[in-house]
Amino acid sequence: MTADQRSLTCESGHCFDIAKQGYVNLAVANSKASSLRSDDLDMVTSRQRFLATGAFDPIVDAVASRIPRDRTGNNGRLFVELGAGTAAYLAAALDRNDDAHGIAIDLSIPATIRAARSHVRTTAIVSDSWAPLPLADDTVDAVLVAFAPRNLAEIARVLRPGGRLVLASAKPAHIQELRDEYELLGIATKNTDRVSVPAEQVGMAIVEVAEVQFEMDLEPEQVADLILMGPNAWHVDRDALRTRVMLQKASRKVSASVGLWVLERR
Ligand SMILES: C[S@@+](CC[C@H](N)C(=O)[O-])C[C@H]1O[C@@H](n2cnc3c(N)ncnc32)[C@H](O)[C@@H]1O
Repeated sequence: MTADQRSLTCESGHCFDIAKQGYVNLAVANSKASSLRSDDLDMVTSRQRFLATGAFDPIVDAVASRIPRDRTGNNGRLFVELGAGTAAYLAAALDRNDDAHGIAIDLSIPATIRAARSHVRTTAIVSDSWAPLPLADDTVDAVLVAFAPRNLAEIARVLRPGGRLVLASAKPAHIQELRDEYELLGIATKNTDRVSVPAEQVGMAIVEVAEVQFEMDLEPEQVADLILMGPNAWHVDRDALRTRVMLQKASRKVSASVGLWVLERR
């Protein structure tokens, strides 16, 4: 792709406008995106507010710290976050690595608008993670995916040999207290158990499996945002749930349980 101030042009001559909010929309070009469900403005607002409280910082730090620092002195490493939401994980990784630039990819326009503002070295693209990624082969140094869809074959294609994928996914016990009290969606075990076989098949090797577990002390607004920033938002009456949560005046303990996988492209 080449870029001027207002558009990007691909090798085949297709031109994509850069929106005034600073993102580029490639979803029409690369997917059947209209049939997929991405986060809406309320969900993104809840996510940004919740992450800003620092309650998920142990997860953000665990992901960002698993990208090795550059020891070659080369400038211009590229990190990509898929299903980036507000791109908080990518921003933390860029804060730790002055040499790197980031691309945040998400199918949601409201999320991508936030992602475009998340870090001075981040570019944000609306695109479908299940479609071919708008990235050349062997060009990416690290891919981050937190609580979002991932297509290992595409990730392996764009990573450089030796490049890293850091994957964070909720374990079945994640926020169990809220799941019980508010009858929330369960965690599909396929989210967490199906990494190793496809990884082998696409030429990636698992170099670390870890778990981040900690207890959060959450105010009612944080509880409501935590529930309504994810897929539960599609299955509940949002106003009724927020009202019910806010009736509980005191803070409460909620446990986080997140699996981490670090894979390297061979
Ligand atoms: C649970 S949120 C996680 C966001 C972010 N990674 C975080 O943890 O803060 C899942 C994100 O994946 C995005 N998403 C869902 N389906 C997608 C797809 N097919 N391609 C790209 N993004 C997608 C949603 O819009 C949403 O922003």
